[in-house]
Amino acid sequence: MSRRKIRFKINGVEKTVEVEPNKTLLWLIREELKLKGTKKACERGDCGLCTVLLNGEPVKSCLVLAVEVDGSDILTVEGLAKNGELAPIQRAFIEHGATQCGFCTPAFLIVGHWLINRNPNPSREEVVEAINGLLCRCTGYKPIIDAILEAAKYMRRT
Ligand code: FES
Ligand code: FES
Repeated sequence: MSRRKIRFKINGVEKTVEVEPNKTLLWLIREELKLKGTKKACERGDCGLCTVLLNGEPVKSCLVLAVEVDGSDILTVEGLAKNGELAPIQRAFIEHGATQCGFCTPAFLIVGHWLINRNPNPSREEVVEAINGLLCRCTGYKPIIDAILEAAKYMRRT
């Protein structure tokens, strides 16, 4: 299969890579770029655990072809901390015990980060709606929702 050259920015860094047309964005992130924070689970759009931001919007990276991200800007969990400082959403997850096994955490961090940046004062219902479609088998969701609401408070203080 003929490979295609694509250029994109990921976590603020410009990249140029050659990919086969049938490879997914999830494959590009985990296997080509070795960014293992984004999780590979169902690979059919059911669990949401492969979610990243593509041009500022959450997408399930297992459902996007790598060739489609040519010219795009991608954010993964590895890009949340800046200059060694955790993002508000990461601090809030730690403080609220919103992580147990941690497998789902990168996706919830990405979606939580997205939500509080577009709406720094979300209601509980808006948080629930934002994380709808992301699967956590451990926490029962309450600590995650509390952490996202708390992270929004941090954002409003800064
Ligand atoms: S791995 Fe993409 S939705 Fe489950
Ligand atoms: S913390 Fe284990 S799946 Fe969410």
